[in-house]
Amino acid sequence: MNLLILNASPKKKGGASRFFSGLFRLFLPGSRKKTLSLSSRQDFRRTLELLPDMDAVCLFVPLYVDGLPSHVVEFLVQAEEYCKARPCRFRLYAVVNNGFVEGGQNRPALRMLQAWCERAGAVWSGGVGVGGGVMLQVLGIVCPILIGVILLQMALSFFSAGAVSGELWRSLLIQIFTWLFLNSSVLFCTARLASAVRGVRALDNLFTRVMIPSFLFIPIADVFMVLSSLFRGRFIFALLGRDNRR
Ligand SMILES: Cc1cc2nc3c(=O)[nH]c(=O)nc-3n(C[C@H](O)[C@H](O)[C@H](O)COP(=O)(O)O)c2cc1C
Repeated sequence: MNLLILNASPKKKGGASRFFSGLFRLFLPGSRKKTLSLSSRQDFRRTLELLPDMDAVCLFVPLYVDGLPSHVVEFLVQAEEYCKARPCRFRLYAVVNNGFVEGGQNRPALRMLQAWCERAGAVWSGGVGVGGGVMLQVLGIVCPILIGVILLQMALSFFSAGAVSGELWRSLLIQIFTWLFLNSSVLFCTARLASAVRGVRALDNLFTRVMIPSFLFIPIADVFMVLSSLFRGRFIFALLGRDNRR
């Protein structure tokens, strides 16, 4: 099976869509898959040329104003024309993520992709709507850093004292379980999506979110957004000294 994974966030580096496609790839070891970025018009041609040969395409895309980002709409218009000339029979799966916590907000975007399949001749095969995409992505950066710091402390403690304290083990387990718990529903849905792709079958749309109650999510997101706006939307990248634009 030929599988094409498309990262359709306009962000050149990082981003929640890239994070979710990375998780998805982990659930498909050994499958023949190609991952491409569809972040701007420059990526259209090479992506279009691959479509007729694909058995499945999985699109990872952010929700913009309750719909699809404009460059994705433009790509789909071109892909519809392209698929008329060279029939495309691939199954389309999608993972749409949004900033607010409710994954159900991605329903209209998934419906748009389904409608596109009906016009273009592709086979709509279902998708996942993920709420709290930014938070899951940030946790996907912060948690491994914290785990790395704890592992470093454990290594130092082992080489200097010959043993690792129970407190360090406890901290490590807490970090790992916290990350797994916050991502548990997304991991479950991603596993179901990967299983549908592997089994060449359709999936009913699934809606999921970061596993944080809304009353905690809202103040945390508010503080993050204020800090982020101070760094022109690139707070986490400023912290890491990286630029996610071209
Ligand atoms: C122009 C724009 C419009 C957005 N519209 C929405 C929206 O309608 N609802 C929502 O929940 N999040 C919205 N967001 C937030 C993104 O969906 C969210 O940040 C997502 O995780 C970005 O994914 P990415 O990192 O893969 O680009 C919007 C973001 C931008 C930049």
